[in-house]
Amino acid sequence: MSGIGKVTAGAPRSVRVSGWGSYVPERVLSNADLERLVDTSDEWIRTRTGIRERRVAAPHETTATLGAIAAKRAIATAGLEPEDIDVIVVATLTPDYPMPSTAALVKEAIGNSSAAAFDIAAACSGFVFGYATADSYVRSGLARHVLVVGAELLTRFLDFEDRGTCILFGDGAGAVVLSGSDEPGGGMAGLEMTTDPDGAYMIWLPSGGSRSPASAETARRGEHFIRMEGRETYRYATRTLATSALTAIEKAGWTPDQVDLFIPHQANIRIIEAVAKGLRLPLDRFFVNIDRYGNTSAASVGIALDEAVAEGRVKVGDKLVFVAFGAGFTSGAIALEWTADPTDRLRAASVEPVASVRAPLDWSSVDPIPPRLAAVLDDPNGPPVPLDDVVPGEPAHAHTEEPS
Ligand code: COA
Repeated sequence: MSGIGKVTAGAPRSVRVSGWGSYVPERVLSNADLERLVDTSDEWIRTRTGIRERRVAAPHETTATLGAIAAKRAIATAGLEPEDIDVIVVATLTPDYPMPSTAALVKEAIGNSSAAAFDIAAACSGFVFGYATADSYVRSGLARHVLVVGAELLTRFLDFEDRGTCILFGDGAGAVVLSGSDEPGGGMAGLEMTTDPDGAYMIWLPSGGSRSPASAETARRGEHFIRMEGRETYRYATRTLATSALTAIEKAGWTPDQVDLFIPHQANIRIIEAVAKGLRLPLDRFFVNIDRYGNTSAASVGIALDEAVAEGRVKVGDKLVFVAFGAGFTSGAIALEWTADPTDRLRAASVEPVASVRAPLDWSSVDPIPPRLAAVLDDPNGPPVPLDDVVPGEPAHAHTEEPS
């Protein structure tokens, strides 16, 4: 029996963030590493995007295991047990499989037996959309504790011959637990969510769906990689981030200068700078960590929140704004009042950064690391990787072993 739907308990007086956490893989991929793969430079990437490096998941890691570690940290921070979670929402555009949901696998990995678990597909806005979904379940009294995870393993969906996309993205996961409280006030005060299908093909991944099922032909065409119209997306992002944030702030009855900290989706430092300028606020009112992780899509707001709290940038009573945009085009913003004791995060210190999900007994995956990326990871000081060095579909190295 699931833990959802016991409405007799009645609706809580408020819905608050009770736990938060994140996880990024250990392996760093620097701009210098990318210089070996495509015609780019550290200087170009830094000045056009603000990115210095990003993380790459190890071969044994998947989106579900990244998400599960962030989830375990968030649950520990909340002072809860995995079994206390009634609903698990995972936002991702890089699921372990098209089905089952990644949320089902996260549920297994964290050791929860009763939660309802499902995924949300809203690309980089997924964390905000997931938060809004979770808030609704708790606010209505249908659930007491809802886990929201944003997790991405983007480096396995990138064309490492396309300099327009492969320099931007990285891997990681962030999570929050939303819980009902008997105290009034705090939590979400304003919400804005939009979707503009005119932008549907500005960032997309063509194959693997009903329109174009995966086949040798789609693989030959490279249609299993993310495609993006960078300039159009940039234009949309600068416009929509500012208007979404402003709308959520107005719905909360606040003004932009009252917001203590904006935690924006980390896509490009120039986009964040443009939003700060548009709202007539100094850049230091915006949390930025894109230099270290690149764009981690649905994971970025959760990772940034965890780091902002760890750095002492968030205090009880602070007014925060989470704001994101992404493929779809989707955008979303949440204006919320922070209520949790920042030192609660110390409860997660003992959570080991490991998680695992069972694989089917009679099946094993192909080498998950794209061959050109593997060539750089396996030989960190090697020469540039020529474009015709590795045949697509033929992994340069076997990467199927589990960690010892
Ligand atoms: N290294 C070096 N040069 C590059 C390059 C790279 N990695 N990528 C593109 N270029 C080149 C282009 O080919 C172009 O050359 P040209 O003038 O000879 O044609 C030049 O740099 C300028 O390209 P442009 O696309 O105008 O650059 P830009 O300043 O718009 O920056 C992005 C490109 C992708 C960084 C930027 O458009 C962006 O951030 N867009 C939003 C992407 C985003 O947020 N996506 C995720 C959404 S959640």
